[in-house]
Amino acid sequence: MKQTTKMASVFLIPLFCLLFSPSSAEIAAKPGVNYGQLGNNLPPPYRSVELIKSLKAARVKIYDTNPKILQALKHTGIQVSVMVRNEIITAIASNQTLADEWVTSNVVPFYPQTMIRYVLVGNEILSLPDNVTWFNLVPAMRRIRKSLKLFKLNKIKVGTPLAIDCLEASFPPSSGKFRSTVTDSVITPLLQFINRTKSFFFIDVYTYFAWVSDPVNIKLGYALLEPNVSSYTDPVSGLTYTNLLDQMLDALYFAMKRVGYPDTRLFIAETGWPNGGDVDQIGANIYNAAVYNRNVIKKFTEKPLRGTPLKPRVVLPSFIFALYNENQKTGPGTERHFGLLYPNGSNIYEIDLSGKTSEFTKKLPVPTNNEPYKGKIWCMAERGANAMVLGGALSYACGQGNGTCDPIQPGGKCFKPDSLRWHASYAFSSYWAQFRKSGGSCYFNGLGVQTTEDPSFGSCKFPSVTL
Ligand SMILES: *[C@@H]1O[C@H](CO)[C@@H](O)[C@H](O)[C@H]1NC(C)=O
Ligand SMILES: *[C@@H]1O[C@H](CO)[C@@H](O)[C@H](O)[C@H]1NC(C)=O
Ligand SMILES: *[C@@H]1O[C@H](CO)[C@@H](O)[C@H](O)[C@H]1NC(C)=O
Ligand SMILES: *[C@@H]1O[C@H](CO)[C@@H](O)[C@H](O)[C@H]1NC(C)=O
Ligand SMILES: *[C@@H]1O[C@H](CO)[C@@H](O)[C@H](O)[C@H]1NC(C)=O
Ligand SMILES: *[C@@H]1O[C@H](CO)[C@@H](O)[C@H](O)[C@H]1NC(C)=O
Repeated sequence: MKQTTKMASVFLIPLFCLLFSPSSAEIAAKPGVNYGQLGNNLPPPYRSVELIKSLKAARVKIYDTNPKILQALKHTGIQVSVMVRNEIITAIASNQTLADEWVTSNVVPFYPQTMIRYVLVGNEILSLPDNVTWFNLVPAMRRIRKSLKLFKLNKIKVGTPLAIDCLEASFPPSSGKFRSTVTDSVITPLLQFINRTKSFFFIDVYTYFAWVSDPVNIKLGYALLEPNVSSYTDPVSGLTYTNLLDQMLDALYFAMKRVGYPDTRLFIAETGWPNGGDVDQIGANIYNAAVYNRNVIKKFTEKPLRGTPLKPRVVLPSFIFALYNENQKTGPGTERHFGLLYPNGSNIYEIDLSGKTSEFTKKLPVPTNNEPYKGKIWCMAERGANAMVLGGALSYACGQGNGTCDPIQPGGKCFKPDSLRWHASYAFSSYWAQFRKSGGSCYFNGLGVQTTEDPSFGSCKFPSVTL
């Protein structure tokens, strides 16, 4: 009996593949979009789903299980990826009841009308300083999968998106190697889990950040996937690379091969390019963002398949980051400018995630910041900021360094005009001028804006950063 079953399945598997792989490969190739919600000015879920459809996205990834979004995605035919929040991973890792409850309240009520296909456990866990969560990651994934099976949700795969910093070596690509501190404890069990459950290794990969770290030696066009820019041949593997994305992905394939899982499938959980940023950031503009995302979509949807030099025939399913520019993301200005759309829902540039459109009609604005800015920059307080919050930031800035705010004391050269915004702008500029070298920023929780226009007047001179 057992023997028969086994023979039957041996026979059936290839037939199944034969019948279904062309169509499933086609679906798999269509890029999706990451629907981040860190903005206080974003359209509601129903409108957002309309916009996602207008971008022709085949799938969408959210960073939680927002029930309004999952509701709005019902009967749309869009494949959905949901996420278990980082904060509950450790609790779930040791508690099956909790895992079952999570699936009961976040997946079961929406499935199958909402086509949930992936449950991602945490976001870039190995990039967090808290290493307790690192070691609970795979145990939590196992529990979530066990719950999904309990509810017979067998089509839903479990994964976890990692950032490219899971690698400690990536150049040349053939030297690709996972961080040794996590290889045995996290990566190997993860790859084992992925293999056993036929899931994917989800990776967030940005050529932008790699290029920014070395714009002198890496050509911009190579990072933007422009054709015929330059090529690099890996001296060990002999493989030739014509763009930075392939190079980064192959480094990951080589790292997986090194620990015994050469055939793990990759899923690009995030990739993209910022359409704007701060004065002291380079290459973040609408032109480059449009070129990168259009090239990436073209690559991912091309037929015949165009994988990477190491895996030329392997489909690369993907999510572009992100749907909107998100004004509540912290950090440098680029963080708030990865959107395909402005918060009012209009396109920042023309884009078609299905890959069917390759000629776009509207002219893109000529980039002006592909070279580092040279000159002075000041840090001004945003107009219309909440007075109490701005007052707090002003006190903070004045409390740092030596004599940071002396000129805005009564009788000082910059005391007048005696307004909160003016004083805060002085304090921000003075703080930033002293601390930029040691990592200080002009962010101030979104209250600071970089400017190249000197606010000084008369005998009041604002300190500046000189690049
Ligand atoms: C496991 O989670 C359930 C549900 O939240 C909770 O009632 C129970 O106390 C937890 N068990 C342990 C051992 O923490
Ligand atoms: C986890 O982090 C702590 C504190 O930083 C460190 O002492 C410990 O060695 C780390 N544990 C592992 C297994 O890396
Ligand atoms: C699992 O690993 C084995 C051994 O490396 C490999 O033959 C197989 O293709 C892998 N399966 C998947 C789904 O990755
Ligand atoms: C790039 O080079 C290939 C082969 O040499 C050529 O066919 C193609 O037209 C070139 N593309 C561009 C955009 O120059
Ligand atoms: C949407 O916002 C952008 C950026 O602020 C602006 O340029 C554009 O005109 C707005 N579009 C509409 C339809 O309001
Ligand atoms: C402030 O002054 C002290 C003593 O003169 C000096 O040691 C310190 O480095 C100064 N701090 C800054 C931020 O300039």
